[in-house]
Amino acid sequence: MEQLLEEEKPPGLTPLFRAVNIEKALSLKNIFFKYEGSSLTGTQKDRISRLHVKRAIQMGYDTISVATCGNYGASVAYFASQMGIRAVVATPSFYTGARNDEIYDSGATLIKKDMKYEDLVDYIKDKSVEENWYDCSPGSINSWVDSMGYESIAYEIVNQMGHSPAYVACPLGNGTTIAGIYSGFKKMYRSGKINSIPRLIGSSTSLGNPIVYSWKHGYRKIQELEPARIVETEVNEPLVSFRSLDGQKALNAIYESRGVAIGINDQEMVKFSRLIANMQSLQVLPASASALSATYRLLRNRNYNGDVAVILTGRGH
Ligand SMILES: Cc1ncc(COP(=O)(O)O)c(C=O)c1O
Repeated sequence: MEQLLEEEKPPGLTPLFRAVNIEKALSLKNIFFKYEGSSLTGTQKDRISRLHVKRAIQMGYDTISVATCGNYGASVAYFASQMGIRAVVATPSFYTGARNDEIYDSGATLIKKDMKYEDLVDYIKDKSVEENWYDCSPGSINSWVDSMGYESIAYEIVNQMGHSPAYVACPLGNGTTIAGIYSGFKKMYRSGKINSIPRLIGSSTSLGNPIVYSWKHGYRKIQELEPARIVETEVNEPLVSFRSLDGQKALNAIYESRGVAIGINDQEMVKFSRLIANMQSLQVLPASASALSATYRLLRNRNYNGDVAVILTGRGH
């Protein structure tokens, strides 16, 4: 029975529901929330970490490693402990460490390094080769699995709505999540399951994200930012970066879908997370609420048709 449940359980299946109170509060229509916060460790990362841990075991590894701002690490640590392998989780030491207790509770080894996130990804890449660990960090040799994991968000939305939405809004950090979602919609379009692909609304921090920067300036090729110019804060940690590891894929997806990429400041993210708490009784991370803020920026005063799926990637505390 246990094995059956494990095999049958889809790697996601989070609720999708109409956010009627938010529609009223913001004078928008047809707003649907896809609440990834209801996943086991509270973020969309569960969709990929579960797949990676399974694959690491199948490939005979006894340790899985990841460089993370925290959410991905908590998820990898959880699934590794559930499935019985060791996890090594590395985070920048100057990050808030909001999820460190959970990472320790899962029995993972936590490495804190005085490095920027992007440099930590390179460090873990080298260390994983040296130590024979399975590296599931964004941009690693195993990262093609991520697309499979995040495509499931698109499949679920279409199954839950019964059709394709006109817009999908999603927060951007490395761009992995939005790129995977777009790939899912494209596959369904090609197979004839849906007859249109949603326009993407990418949201990120206004304090440094290459996808927003490149889209805003009309670049087709993703531009890295000057490391010294990004500003990391407690609020924007999941989104801020000078190098987006799946930035090119995300940028391509945004252009192809005739979408947008919008930078949101910390105050605005916090404001929208409070609005979601007050209006819909949902705790979401401010970084996740950026997707609603960007939706509002784009669609207020616009007479749009069709549904809008807003991906709320993580629950708040
Ligand atoms: C809660 C949450 N939302 C969004 C993102 C950004 O996702 P991606 O890096 O796939 O663009 C992250 C990344 O860590 C996250 O933790």
